[in-house]
Amino acid sequence: MNFCSDSAAVDAEIPISPVAQRSSRVPRHVAIIMDGNGRWALRRSLPRTAGHRAGVKSVRAVVEESIRQGVAALTLFAFSSENWRRPKSEVNLLMELFLSALRSEVKRLGENGVRLRTVGDRTAFPEKLQQSIAEAEEATRNNNAMVLQIAANYGGRWDIARAARRLAADVRDGRLKPEDLDEDLLSSRLSFPDLPDPDLFIRTGGEQRLSNFLLWQSAYSELYFSDLMWPDFGAEAYATALADYARRQRRFGLTGEQISTGPADGTE
Ligand code: FPP
Repeated sequence: MNFCSDSAAVDAEIPISPVAQRSSRVPRHVAIIMDGNGRWALRRSLPRTAGHRAGVKSVRAVVEESIRQGVAALTLFAFSSENWRRPKSEVNLLMELFLSALRSEVKRLGENGVRLRTVGDRTAFPEKLQQSIAEAEEATRNNNAMVLQIAANYGGRWDIARAARRLAADVRDGRLKPEDLDEDLLSSRLSFPDLPDPDLFIRTGGEQRLSNFLLWQSAYSELYFSDLMWPDFGAEAYATALADYARRQRRFGLTGEQISTGPADGTE
């Protein structure tokens, strides 16, 4: 199977935006569950699919604000492993939207220095879409202002199970011993070992759950829930979330006193 993360794993290193390096109060990596498209549309007596179309504008706004603020990586949950269970017409519209957004946005992403990648099992997608994803990834691979990851047909448990399978194969083939296995080794077999774990995990749409998104990688993420539906979550709401993050003290198990004068990620 061709998982996009395999190509990610061979990349030596994703350069972190110089702007992002300036302040650790800016999250290096933001992950977002873009929820509420359907309800946004239904409240306007529109079909759910109109909400997804409107959601593309928010994607654009959040990407541009991320670049402005110096966020180095942004991972958006566009389609979960469970979303296949939605009505076929909605699944088809989402596939079309991904395809048209890829085609129309690649140039703009290039102008903004954004590198596009997908995470998830894309082998289940229509051939045309897989082709466009591969082209967009190739066209943007040398960009280094920001990494934009679209999680598509992704599930956190799928990611962990696949990492475990890879490690099991290494043990079976004698490349590793069971006692070698630790957290770092498991992390290295996940979908994007070259990126830092998300510092900030945002969910819009008023729900407060993780929905099988980045389960392993978000162990220490700061969580931020917004009641806004995704199409209403623009640059301003996103900037508010980033400002909220900047005020938080991340402790990673230490006491507040130990790091009271440190920055948001406790590293300086
Ligand atoms: C969740 O809202 C949203 C999705 C399943 C799809 C997200 C897709 C987009 C924003 C469109 C384009 C994205 C890219 C990356 C080009 P929901 O339908 O579950 O909303 P509801 O909870 O109100 O029903």
